[in-house]
Amino acid sequence: MLAEIDTLQKNAIEAINAASDLKDLEDLRVRFLGRKSRIRQLLSLVGTTPPAERPALGQATGTCRKAIEASLKARQITLQEAADHGASFDLSLPGRRPRLGKSHPLSQIADELTEILQEMGFTVADGPEVEDEYHNFDALNTPSDHPARDIHDTFYLTDGRLLRTHTSTVQIRYMENNAPPLRIIAPGRCYRRDTVDATHHYAFHQIEGLYVDEKVSLADLKGTLETLARRLLGNDTRVRLRPHFFPFTEPSIEYDFSSSLKNTGWLEIGGAGMVDPAVFEAVGYDPERYSGFAFGFGIDRIAIIRYGIDDIRLFLENDLRFIHQF
Ligand code: DAH
Repeated sequence: MLAEIDTLQKNAIEAINAASDLKDLEDLRVRFLGRKSRIRQLLSLVGTTPPAERPALGQATGTCRKAIEASLKARQITLQEAADHGASFDLSLPGRRPRLGKSHPLSQIADELTEILQEMGFTVADGPEVEDEYHNFDALNTPSDHPARDIHDTFYLTDGRLLRTHTSTVQIRYMENNAPPLRIIAPGRCYRRDTVDATHHYAFHQIEGLYVDEKVSLADLKGTLETLARRLLGNDTRVRLRPHFFPFTEPSIEYDFSSSLKNTGWLEIGGAGMVDPAVFEAVGYDPERYSGFAFGFGIDRIAIIRYGIDDIRLFLENDLRFIHQF
């Protein structure tokens, strides 16, 4: 009889755990614990068994009943929870749409410029924003007493390093580690100690270009800038070169774009020129054999023209309402 009780308990618990809803479970409760259940029969038999067997039988039946009751209770809680959840789960509700990110307008312009220049054979190089004076100034033919340093005032770290004032630093870093010929561009952030207003910021963005080979000429520079201008702002965009001065190029120019499509008039875009022999000497290139051109391009400026933005501070606020407009 004890073996039978054991089997009964096992079968009951197995059936209870397999019950698929509360109605099933109620049927099982009646079957295993109800008035006509086997356990009830056994309980009533306890009184009539010989006294020697009574305690063992009584205990076994009691334990069996408690075990069945406990598993009924547990299964009931599980099935009740499932039923409650099902009731409040409305399949017809719209899903929660994940918020999509958006490329920053400056990144979009930088990516576009990079793509055009890559098609022209330039590869992307990179350099640190925290620079030393040598790469930001001296190697670019701008010694510490040079007046050109005045308009490149920046933020200094206590160890003497500084936040780079232009991406021209990457010219030096790349040439130090690579032999000519080379054609690179370097997009990135620059810093200057400027008072912030609608048209000035202490942080801005440039893309640097450098092309070094034998017999590179100013005509190559002009052709590159014209191609860039037309791809960027339309086929009728004109390019104007004006004589200028930069310590690291000779001759130096500033260049302006004019796009009749956008009706902007002449817009100053950046500086450029033929790499100064002193720069080649600083990186160990032979200035008799190699020549090259370099240019710096204001990314923020192009974004301002392209999108008609009137306050450059908006670029660095990272307000999603602004960024999602472009
Ligand atoms: N680095 C210069 C600036 O930020 C711009 C520039 C001028 C870059 C002439 C050049 C260059 O590569 O050849 O003011």
